Amino acid sequence: MRVAVLGSGAIGGVVISALESGEVPGARLTAVVNLGDSLEDALPLADLVVECAGQRALAELGPKVIDAGKDLLVVSIGALTDDALHERLRGGPGRLFLTSGAIGGLDLLRAAALMAPLETVRIVTTKKPSTLGVPDTGGPVEVMRGPARQIAAAFPKSTNVAAAVALAAGSFDIVEAVVMADPAATLTSHVITASGPAGDYRFEIRNRPSEQNPASSQVVPHAVLTALRELAR
Ligand SMILES: NC(=O)c1ccc[n+]([C@@H]2O[C@H](COP(=O)([O-])OP(=O)(O)OC[C@H]3O[C@@H](n4cnc5c(N)ncnc54)[C@H](O)[C@@H]3O)[C@@H](O)[C@H]2O)c1
Repeated sequence: MRVAVLGSGAIGGVVISALESGEVPGARLTAVVNLGDSLEDALPLADLVVECAGQRALAELGPKVIDAGKDLLVVSIGALTDDALHERLRGGPGRLFLTSGAIGGLDLLRAAALMAPLETVRIVTTKKPSTLGVPDTGGPVEVMRGPARQIAAAFPKSTNVAAAVALAAGSFDIVEAVVMADPAATLTSHVITASGPAGDYRFEIRNRPSEQNPASSQVVPHAVLTALRELAR
């Protein structure tokens, strides 16, 4: 599998190094596309493009990847709150894949929602105020609460997870997202709760932030590499 990586920041950089050192059997790095580089030059060299460049880049470049018949693995899942973009990316001929990114439990939420619609779903994300770009008031404060679609758009670098939960739950409308700022949050936390006819669920994730970009967690590139391992088998 020939892989092009879009964006070489905190997430893309780790993915690129791992591919370069042959850590993913069956996959090799054939192109890196950064700001100012031409995606069009990279597309003929790739079977799959990994987007690690942000929601705006995904909205702009994702359709070109899919239209060229290349597969697209996405980390900036929050961009898919735009229904038209999501439909476009699902329309082929290339295939759309999503990484689990910073969180887990999505497989179980998807199964539960498939059995019968979930009744309540909530994700509470807590990060340091500086990471969220809000004032430090000395203690934990709720910064925003609302539908997942609204929160993912308001904090594009920090709440891709809210969109990932909503897509797994099969509805943006039932997912409430809460963003908390806490100066004591040395780890970024996501608490996901859901309930419905299939049962009651609670997942608590506490991730170490990336040193390069505290808005991202260190585990995210490894979630991307896990997906690449599956796709390259
Ligand atoms: N799904 C998840 O759980 C999850 C978790 C963390 C981050 N993310 C998403 O991943 C994105 C990347 O995170 P990061 O920490 O690596 O960010 P980063 O800022 O460290 O790196 C982004 C990289 O993308 C490049 N870039 C920006 N626009 C581009 C464009 N149009 N074309 C090509 N390259 C472009 C930048 O130059 C930079 O190298 C975030 O913006 C966020 O949306 C998702």
